[in-house]
Amino acid sequence: MMTEEAFQVIVVGSCMTDLVSQSPRLPKEGETIHGHNFFIGFGGKGANQCIQAARLGAKTAMVAKVGKDSFGDSYIQNFKDNGVHTGFVGQTSCAATGVASIVVTDEGQNAIVIVAGANMLLTKNELRDALPAIRSAKVLVCQLEIAPEMSLQALHMAKENKVTTIFNPAPAIPNLDPDFYRLSDVFCCNESEAELLTGSSVNNVEEANHAGRELLKRGCRTVIITLGAQGCVVLKAQESTSKHVPATPVTAVDTTGAGDSFIGALAFYMAHYPKMELQEVARRAGHVAALSVQAMGTQSSYPHKRDLAAELF
Ligand code: RIB
Repeated sequence: MMTEEAFQVIVVGSCMTDLVSQSPRLPKEGETIHGHNFFIGFGGKGANQCIQAARLGAKTAMVAKVGKDSFGDSYIQNFKDNGVHTGFVGQTSCAATGVASIVVTDEGQNAIVIVAGANMLLTKNELRDALPAIRSAKVLVCQLEIAPEMSLQALHMAKENKVTTIFNPAPAIPNLDPDFYRLSDVFCCNESEAELLTGSSVNNVEEANHAGRELLKRGCRTVIITLGAQGCVVLKAQESTSKHVPATPVTAVDTTGAGDSFIGALAFYMAHYPKMELQEVARRAGHVAALSVQAMGTQSSYPHKRDLAAELF
C-alpha cells in the first residue's frame, strides 16, 4: 500500500496479545500455583514502543503482521484508537496473532513466554511496500520479536534513506549479526540483554559502562543501557566518557513493558527535538517510563502527553 503521508516515528516490529496473570510469586518448575487476577492487554515490544510514541504526540506508523482472527482485528482497532497509521499492518490466515503469557508477582517481578505466530510472517515485500513511509520518517525503531532478517532489512532501508535508527535487541539473541550494531544510531538494551550480548555481568552503573563501551566498539553510534531503578547509562562513540542518568524514584507495581515505554519516548523526543542532547532525551524518557511502572499492564499503563509535566515538552 502506498502512502503520501510523512511520519515522525515508524516502528517495524511485533504485536502480541498479553495474557497476564497476577500471582504471589513465580511458579517453580513443574509447579501449579493460584493467581488472583487475570487480564488481557495489548502488548508486543514493537507495538508498545509505537503506542508510547503516539501517546506523546508523534505521528506514527506501524509495520507489522497479525493473524486474521479476533485478536488481530482488536489489535488493528487498538492502533486506530491511538492514532497509529495501520496501512502497513497486514493480516494472515497462516498463523495466529502473537501472544505473550505473562506472570506478574505482587512484588512486581515478571516472567514472559511469547509465541510470535503471525509476527514471524512479515515479509521483505511488505517492508518494501512501506518504503515511502520509512523514507518519510524521522526515526525508525526495530526489535527482535519478528524475524531478525526483517529488522535488519528495515534498518538498512532506514540508513540508506538517512532516517535515524533506534535498535532494541530484545529479546536478545546470541551471535547477533554484526550489521545490527553498525546500523544502529541508538542501540538501546536493558541489563540482561547487555549481559547476553557482551558476556560480562551488568548489575550496576560501572558494569553497564564497561558493557556499553564493548557495544560501541562493535559499531553503534550511541549506546543506552537501561538499569531499572538505577536509571540508565548513555555512551557516545565520539566521546570517551559515559553519562549516568538516574531514574525518578517511584513505587513500581508492574515493570512489564517499562523498557518499551522508555524506547517509545526516546523515539518521540528524538523525532521532535533532533538537536536535543541524548542524555536529556534519556532523562525525559525515564520520566515517562517511571509513570508506566505505577499501573498494571503494558500499554494500559502508558501515559499520554496530558499526564506529564509541561517541562517534559
Ligand atoms: O516488553 C514487554 C512486552 O514483551 C510485552 O508486552 C509482551 O508482549 C512481550 O512482547
